[in-house]
Amino acid sequence: CRMVVMASGAGTNLQALLDAEAAGRLGGQIAAVLSDRPGAGALERARAAGKPAILLRPAGDWDRAVLDELARWQPDLVVLAGFMRLLGPAVVAAYRNRILNIHPSLLPAFPGKDAPRRALEHGVKVTGCTVHFVDEGVDTGPILLQAAVPVRDGDDPQTLHRRIQRVEHRLYPAAVRLVATGRVRLEGRRVRILKGPS
Ligand code: GRF
Repeated sequence: CRMVVMASGAGTNLQALLDAEAAGRLGGQIAAVLSDRPGAGALERARAAGKPAILLRPAGDWDRAVLDELARWQPDLVVLAGFMRLLGPAVVAAYRNRILNIHPSLLPAFPGKDAPRRALEHGVKVTGCTVHFVDEGVDTGPILLQAAVPVRDGDDPQTLHRRIQRVEHRLYPAAVRLVATGRVRLEGRRVRILKGPS
């Protein structure tokens, strides 16, 4: 399974995916890393791992730019790891059920930006992270895996987000591996995981 990872930020989830690949635990190869942010730590991490690190410069038609770049790499799977721009309907349609995202809440609670801060403000005692397939909405696609994370007294958005991210770093490589090794079936909104070797 050939993958492209798209990331805008520090890239700690990208790092977890790179480490899993190096350890033979990803079920496929990361062909390239794309970013929309020149200073993204993710680009640095990609280069350090010897992967093509590509900055997308959306001059005009953003969807076209993404589609053209993806076409160069021919991925079986597109893995969003903290990618902060929305992919338009043309991209979603071209890679239907082949784009994964990770989100720092137990969806459908707290979709969109600042999920850890909003979870704290709401006063929830348990939050977590969700790996889901990407559809046309914002964090609305079929859910593949979730993991719970406790909220602690005294948490601020940063401490809570960091606790969630530590869990993300285990959940995302495991989720990618399931898809990459063909163990995932979509049945409408419900995602079935087929039995097999872990
Ligand atoms: C993660 O918490 C992910 O859930 C969200 O963006 C964050 C990216 O962090 N979509 P990093 O760049 O992987 O460190």
